[in-house]
Amino acid sequence: KSNEQSVIEAAHELAMKFYHHILLKTEMGAPGLNYLEQRGFTKEMLDTFQLGFAPNHWDSLTSLLEKRGFNLKALENAGLLSLREFDGKVFDRFRNRIMFPIWDGQGNVIAFGGRIIDDGKPKYLNSPETVLFNKSRTLYGIHLARPSIRKLNQAVLFEGYVDVISAWGAGVLNGIATLGTALTEEQAKVIRRNAETVILCYDSDEAGIQATSRAASILVQAGCYVKVALLPEGQDPDDYIRLNGGEHFKRDIIESSLTLMSFKMQYLRRGKNLQDEGERMRYIEEVLNEISDLPRAVERDHYLRQIASEFSLSLDALKQEQFRMYRERR
Ligand code: UTP
Ligand code: MN
Ligand code: MN
Ligand code: MN
Ligand code: MN
Repeated sequence: KSNEQSVIEAAHELAMKFYHHILLKTEMGAPGLNYLEQRGFTKEMLDTFQLGFAPNHWDSLTSLLEKRGFNLKALENAGLLSLREFDGKVFDRFRNRIMFPIWDGQGNVIAFGGRIIDDGKPKYLNSPETVLFNKSRTLYGIHLARPSIRKLNQAVLFEGYVDVISAWGAGVLNGIATLGTALTEEQAKVIRRNAETVILCYDSDEAGIQATSRAASILVQAGCYVKVALLPEGQDPDDYIRLNGGEHFKRDIIESSLTLMSFKMQYLRRGKNLQDEGERMRYIEEVLNEISDLPRAVERDHYLRQIASEFSLSLDALKQEQFRMYRERR
């Protein structure tokens, strides 16, 4: 590790402790603590995920880092501080935000996500990429979730930091999240090294459903067995847990997750009237196309039978049609 890297790590470790202390032990942290309590965060969640609060000042962290002898210019590059162009003064980059420390796989704090506590923009301000922080390689929560992911041979992938923490409170300890970007091949490889099965549990909105499809194919490419946990329309995992409790989340959402093919069939059905012959044929064609993508013959057979029985079609005819598609693509 270079000296630059060690300094950045030390500064992040100090910042995490500072923000956590502010949140729990000071008057300055009260707005943050109120906000988190309102949202149902327990003391255990705050401690496990070392949540913190960046006070509404320009120089809280800056003066602490200066007192501890850090080179402030170096920490501007590390994303903790910002530089005022016209006079070269540095100041706190994160102000008046709930701080979510982001760890690397070894448990070093390498970045932060900062959530605003009102409806200002951006909702989350994240650290910029640095020598230590590469967004497309990092997964939020991985170092905490790894023992559970390995034990269960399964990971649950969420969209948001808060979803990981809420799920953890509900006893789902194998949750991780991307950092506000689409899942990358690198992240999929990291997941595959730790588990075979991945349950996708994204927000149930248009963006989340699109992202689920894309993440699923990246995970399949990486050799994962993918399942999809569906939430009621418009909700995210944290919303669901707040509304229905953790037990329900575990049983009715996580343990009831669908196979990827069932999810795709549900997805292809959306907005189609299957009573209409034309739309029904288009649906069957699209499903057959998906079935042709399945690598295993037993799986293809299983879904062909399902379609045959649902639409009272001859299995032979479906098989011929599907076989034609299968050959065309190889
Ligand atoms: P969401 O908008 O779904 O937020 O973004 P959330 O996780 O439900 O958060 P709450 O419940 O409103 O507090 C999902 C993820 O996308 C990234 C963050 O990583 C967030 O956890 N994101 C979102 C950003 O990076 N910046 C933003 O402005 C918004
Ligand atoms: Mn603590
Ligand atoms: Mn979302
Ligand atoms: Mn969300
Ligand atoms: Mn949310």
